Amino acid sequence: MNKRLALALIPSACLPALRNLRSMVSRLIPISKSVPARKSERIRFIASYDQRNLPPSPVLANKEHLRYWNNTNRFEKFNRWCGDFDQPFREEIRKRVIDKKYKNILDAGAGVFSEYYGFKHDKYDISYTAIEITPLFVEYGLQRGINVIRGDLADMPFDDEQFDCCLCEDTLNHQIEFKAPILEMLRVVKKEVFISFFKPFAEDVDSTGNLSGKFKIEHTENGVIEHRFVDEKKETICLYNYFSKQKIIEFLVEAKFRHEFIKSADGRIILVLNK
Ligand SMILES: C[S@@+](CC[C@H](N)C(=O)[O-])C[C@H]1O[C@@H](n2cnc3c(N)ncnc32)[C@H](O)[C@@H]1O
Repeated sequence: MNKRLALALIPSACLPALRNLRSMVSRLIPISKSVPARKSERIRFIASYDQRNLPPSPVLANKEHLRYWNNTNRFEKFNRWCGDFDQPFREEIRKRVIDKKYKNILDAGAGVFSEYYGFKHDKYDISYTAIEITPLFVEYGLQRGINVIRGDLADMPFDDEQFDCCLCEDTLNHQIEFKAPILEMLRVVKKEVFISFFKPFAEDVDSTGNLSGKFKIEHTENGVIEHRFVDEKKETICLYNYFSKQKIIEFLVEAKFRHEFIKSADGRIILVLNK
């Protein structure tokens, strides 16, 4: 029987179960057997993707400021912004992972999986797991056999010390606070966490400098929040948080975590945390 005819004979009530089965199977595919997508393949993905199939998101309950990610259907745009694995700050983080010979890694807020493709490009065999809130990106990853689950990096369904290390690139600046995500990432690793910041720290921002002045600004005890996108009721759906470096350091010192801030060749600040 040909494949089309077989699919036509499946009752539609069985389709959700089949979809679950497909994503379970894709999680079992080892990283070395899945094939990296070229940019053209990623773009074709937009056409085949249907947002209407998505379940409602329990992940975003009480996280209104993350709603923008839930609704995005701009794969091509994100791929342009974040798809390059050869940016110096990403190379810096991967080099550290490879130098330490880590065998498994969690990518928290993985976006379009640039680091999954980066490790492949480096020909470094690592067991890769990702967590992401954006359904579009999760679906994209699952379709390519990438081990990704939908979830919030501040509350992850992983065991203590399940991974050698965790990276979190350009994602913390979208969170309303830094403590829960940092503690959570440290909980699930044995060794090391790498966090890159795509926005400067509050101490380096002034009202005329880095902030555009176009968006609502809120000063909090942990930094300065720019309410980047709002909905029709003017409620925030996406924010940039310019955290206070001093507050982060105070928190890490008090919690007794070894830490170091490094600067990559392209000027990105990376926080390296060791257990
Ligand atoms: C600026 S993008 C960075 C993506 C990727 N890490 C990179 O560097 O290319 C931020 C990503 O984090 C995801 N994200 C934001 N908040 C998150 C959260 N609380 N838990 C998991 N993912 C989150 C978004 O869906 C988005 O894909």
